[in-house]
Amino acid sequence: MQKITIAIDGYSSTGKSTVAKQLADYLGYVYVDSGAMYRAVTLYAMQNGIISKGNFDIEKLEESLPSIHLKFKKEASWNKAHIFLNGKDVENEIRNLEVSEFVSPIATIHEVRVKLVAQQQQMGLEKGVVMDGRDIGTVVFPNAELKIFMNASAPERAQRRYKELMDRGDTVTFNDILKNIQERDHIDTTREDSPLRKAADAIEIDNSEMNLQDQFHVVLQLAKDRIAGRI
Ligand code: CDP
Ligand code: CDP
Repeated sequence: MQKITIAIDGYSSTGKSTVAKQLADYLGYVYVDSGAMYRAVTLYAMQNGIISKGNFDIEKLEESLPSIHLKFKKEASWNKAHIFLNGKDVENEIRNLEVSEFVSPIATIHEVRVKLVAQQQQMGLEKGVVMDGRDIGTVVFPNAELKIFMNASAPERAQRRYKELMDRGDTVTFNDILKNIQERDHIDTTREDSPLRKAADAIEIDNSEMNLQDQFHVVLQLAKDRIAGRI
């Protein structure tokens, strides 16, 4: 069967990565979490004195880009591919709130985007890929056969992310998560380079009232219809 490219964009904690992974597993496609790449660059910047509270050395970040090597690797016992930063598995570390607080400023930098978009496009050359992020349908794969744009209310999204971080043992407050989500929404939608927006040909899904199973069924049906040429 003909393989297609599926782009899933939208706001933070709308369930993009969950549904993208489920879809990729079902279709036998490759799943790529583009946000993990921005998060890994952010972790590098935090570890190398490039970004901290009140300090952001953009020039040093740009100079450091050739030294930042990102790779996705998957082992049989893992449920999904992990991201490696210069050979080290950072899949867990990049999900903490501190990284979330610095990632959106890092993602505004043009040179960072050029580097990561090129790597993302390389991963999608043979189609059969489901990628989630903010600019997948608009910039990375503007010709993707299926584009989904996900949204949900901010309190609902904050509640979901709060639960996720509490479940893994992080010490966070609901208000800090909500504030972070709102700040990232603002930076991601207003930045000059590749702002988060719905592509003209994307299908919008508000999943404030949908559980994971409901949203998977909606997206899977769209994918099946698109693959079969019904839509
Ligand atoms: O999962 P969550 O929505 O919290 O975020 P993510 O997908 O891990 O992305 C983290 C951040 O990376 C976003 O808030 C954006 O600032 C940036 N990002 C981006 O600019 N472009 C992408 N394609 C993916 C993420
Ligand atoms: O990738 P993105 O940031 O858009 O979201 P995610 O990481 O897939 O989902 C964030 C959290 O919300 C996860 O813990 C999901 O299980 C949960 N979620 C949910 O409970 N119901 C939904 N309809 C969507 C996501």
